[in-house]
Amino acid sequence: MKILIAEHIADEGIHFLKQTGFNVDIKLKLSREALLDCIGVYDAIIVRSVTKVNEELYEHATNLKVVGRAGNGVDNIEMDGATKRGIIVVNTPDANTVSAAEHTIGLMLSMCRNIPRANAHIKSKQWDRTLFRGVELMDKTLGIVGLGRIGSMVATRMQSFGMNVIAYDPYIRRERFDQLKVTRIDELGELMRQSDIVTVHTPKTKETLGIIGAEEFKLCKKGVRVVNCARGGIIDEAALHEALENGTVAGAAIDVLKDEPHPISPLLDLDQTVITPHLGADTYEAQKNVGEAVALEVFEALQGKLVANA
Ligand code: MLT
Repeated sequence: MKILIAEHIADEGIHFLKQTGFNVDIKLKLSREALLDCIGVYDAIIVRSVTKVNEELYEHATNLKVVGRAGNGVDNIEMDGATKRGIIVVNTPDANTVSAAEHTIGLMLSMCRNIPRANAHIKSKQWDRTLFRGVELMDKTLGIVGLGRIGSMVATRMQSFGMNVIAYDPYIRRERFDQLKVTRIDELGELMRQSDIVTVHTPKTKETLGIIGAEEFKLCKKGVRVVNCARGGIIDEAALHEALENGTVAGAAIDVLKDEPHPISPLLDLDQTVITPHLGADTYEAQKNVGEAVALEVFEALQGKLVANA
């Protein structure tokens, strides 16, 4: 069996696959043409969030049996195309949730206290304390859109900051909200009306793409702040840019861009934004967990075993 690792995974995962006796090739940052040229010989491919595993790739991947998605969402994998060809798709939904939740909180604090701009200021050998006055989180309302694994970790952690946490998620049972002591909001618009900070934690689907856009920003308190550490485009970037420019939104903390991995977005030019290049899962712990989990799942799937996250 031949496995192609097309995006970086931790050494632990690579060692595991190599010691199984499978033939493992690591070819990172291949051009699309080079990937399409070589994929035909592989039985499995491992990717993170950049490689588009779509019809075009499936057409070239005549031996492909397993797609390993090292991470959480599967929005870069065309599931119908895989299903119709009998290709198994596995992912690692639990392996990097803590890192994603902690990065969300880091971004939130950075945005509220202007830490990146203040850091750049003092490193340019200046000292003006009047430029960076921030806001506290305590007693503010945090609106969470998507109360799944990551959303609920953000909820419990931010309760310890003294925030009033509310959430909108039509797919999560009422008992789960009660268990987390999070107030359930039935309408997204109502969550937008009540929140001082809104953070999104949904997968990227047709339903969630642009779920927060111009109409939603019209409902917000003036000076709301937003965080997107989920997927680029869940908060409509053009609408967000407009809302930042007209002062409806006071700040945005963003880890994911619609057109990533290309750092192209008008949001990059605004002082009110704090932006990182998709670092939510980038900790040593998460990468070790993800690398080990995806390697084991790909190995098991290639052997025809039942895999938990398939
Ligand atoms: C995830 O979905 O788990 C991450 O976004 C994966 C990544 O960092 O590429």
